[in-house]
Parts: sequence; structure tokens; C-alpha cells
Amino acid sequence: MSTTEPTKQRSPVDVARAAFQREFGERPSWSCRAPGRVNLIGGHVDYNEGVVLPVAVALEIALAFRGRTDRLVRVYSADFDETAEFKIEDLAPGSLTGWVAYPAGVAWAMSGAGVPLRGLEAAVAGNVPIGAGLSSSAALEVAFAAAFRQASELDLPELELAKLGQAAENQFVGVRCGIMDQVTAACAEAEHALLLDCRSLDYRHVPLPPALRIVILDTGVERELRSSEYNKRRRECEETVSRLAAVDDDIHALRDVSPEQLGPLLRHLPPPLDRRARHVVGEIERVHLAASALEQGETERFGELMFASHRSLRDDYEVSSEELDGLVELARRAPGIFGARLTGAGFGGCTVNVVSAALVEDFLSYVSEGYDKLFGRRPDSYVTDAAPGVSLDRAG
Ligand code: GLA
Repeated sequence: MSTTEPTKQRSPVDVARAAFQREFGERPSWSCRAPGRVNLIGGHVDYNEGVVLPVAVALEIALAFRGRTDRLVRVYSADFDETAEFKIEDLAPGSLTGWVAYPAGVAWAMSGAGVPLRGLEAAVAGNVPIGAGLSSSAALEVAFAAAFRQASELDLPELELAKLGQAAENQFVGVRCGIMDQVTAACAEAEHALLLDCRSLDYRHVPLPPALRIVILDTGVERELRSSEYNKRRRECEETVSRLAAVDDDIHALRDVSPEQLGPLLRHLPPPLDRRARHVVGEIERVHLAASALEQGETERFGELMFASHRSLRDDYEVSSEELDGLVELARRAPGIFGARLTGAGFGGCTVNVVSAALVEDFLSYVSEGYDKLFGRRPDSYVTDAAPGVSLDRAG
């Protein structure tokens, strides 16, 4: 199994700084970094305006940069070994694709929001695996939003960076994600999970016990269905809400339905909308219970809620896969486990496991061997503690 302990590798900030110097012939003025994320519980809840409990992980996207006085943006990507450039005033959705659509989308969203934006030169590097469901895209968006904020000497709070990142992804890149990933990349705190209300955007940092580690296991399966099925689930939730709103006009999102209310409402929902509603309403309740279990040091209870979340995502929301189910089932029997579930959008990608720090190695070998027997390969794994959100440093 390839186990990545990110802190032992050359940091993305160092890689970005060296790349900047090579590409632009001078030292950068600043560097910034933003983390990937994993959601402990609260799957497919953010776009239903409920509460979620993600943590930022110790895998990140870093930028080394310096501001310009004009509106030209020149970006070198160390991962793609490619330089791209654009003028902020030329940007329109669809005008750029590939990795550069993310920085361009952020510049477009910021200047569209009336922010007086100046250009910059930047080198970008990262160790968030792309396409594994750890939100490298939100990390990239938030890192660029922070770089533009600095280069243009703007006064914007972190939460605004997150909203601009989401606007870039929704409107410029064209992916209909919720707000969870960007707020985590912007506002997370080390050693804490982030209890985020996706309607009000109020959040609170919930301490994680130091004896726990977060283990991310990657099925290694491409998630071809992911964006089409993700959008389909979003449409199903919208249809569910419009049917329920016809019965009760206080319902504006699934967030407005309590578990007690749901029972009698189910007869207004044909399958699979009844199952979708049951997942979302139950999952929001589980997030509240999980946050208080964490706060009261009831790790076993927290873990049970994670397993319950996985079952609900598998049976009612139908976003799991054979490999994800296999990994969660193996984890359930492995030494040191408290809880496991699929994380991110589903249909492949990763599981998140909360594991006793002392038993991480035993846990990994049990699951890895079991997965190899079932699927003929070992999963990649990332062992992480909760990392802080976006940060900026003067380079040099
Ligand atoms: C993806 C999206 C998030 C969220 C999750 C499911 O990761 O980017 O906004 O909807 O799926 O919880």
C-alpha cells in the first residue's frame, strides 16, 4: 500500500517557491496555501442547506506569487508543467478550460462582484490528489482568491473567499457543487472539525480528540458517473422540495423538514424521492448528534453515526459503489476503527475512517490486504490530522 504522510515530503509551498523563481527569474513576494478536505459526516447535505462536519486535511495547494500593476495574470502549474496567461477583462464563462479555468474563474467572479482586481504572476503546486474527491478544486479556488486579495490589497474575510470560489466553480467552470468544500478550505482550524450551517454559513470549530487520526482510503476507481449523477441528485432534491412546498409552504429546502415531520410527508413523494428525502433529513439529524457526541468525548457513538451515514448513502441516496462498500465493510472489522463512510460525492473516490492513533498501522494492513483479496489491488491511503484553512506568508 502506498501510504502518504504528507508532512514528510517536500511541502507544496517549497515546490511552488522554487518553481516561481525558475519560471519568473525572481523570488516571489508571497506564498499562500489552502487545504483539501474530507467530510466526516453530512453527505449530500450542503446543497440541501443543512449542516455538515468536514475537516481540512494535510494535503494542500500552494501558490508563490507577486502582484502586478496591470490586469494580466500569468500562472505556471508545476503539476502540469505549463504556463497560462489571461487578461482579467477578457474573461467569460467557457473562455478557458482545464486547470487554468480555476484561477480564471476566481478572477472573473471577483471582478464580477465589483472587486477592483489587479493581475499577478504565480506558480502553483499541490499534493491533493486530483479527482479523488478531496476537493483539490476548492483548495485551488480559495488559494487563488487569497492571492488576488493580497495582490490587490483588498479587505475580504475568509468566508467571502469561499463564496467567490464557489461562484467560480458554479458559474465559470460549470460544476454545480455546494459551499462545503470552499468554506472548509477557507475557514478550517487545525485539530478541529468545522460544524458548518450551509444556509446561514455560521460555523463553529469542534475539537477532535488527539488520540484519533483520520485515514482516507482511495478506491482507485474513476468516478465516471459522478458529475451526471451528482446533478441528478440535486434535481431530485429540488423536485422533492417543490412537491413538499405544495403541502407546506414553510418548506424551502430539505433542511426545513424535521425527522418527525417527514413520516407523514412521505406519501407525497414517489420513489426514489422518498428515499432521497429520508437520507437528507436523517443525515442532518446525524450531523447534530455526531457533533455533540464529539463534544462529549463519545467517540464510539460518533463512529456508529458514520456507519449509519454510509448505509443511508448506499441504500437511500444510492451514491455508493461495490468498492466503497467493500472498504467500509473491511474497516468495520479492522483494528482501531471507530467509524467509516464514503466521502465526497460518491460513485468511487474515497472513504473516510476515524481510527485510534495507536492502531493506524494495524488498521491499514488489515484493510489493505482485505481489499487486495476482493478487488485485486491495494488502496492508496492518506493519514492526516485536521489542518488549518487558507494562510498567507511573506516569501523570502
Ligand atoms: C461534492 C460537492 C460538495 C458536496 C459533496 C457531497 O464534494 O463538491 O459540495 O455536495 O459532494 O456531500
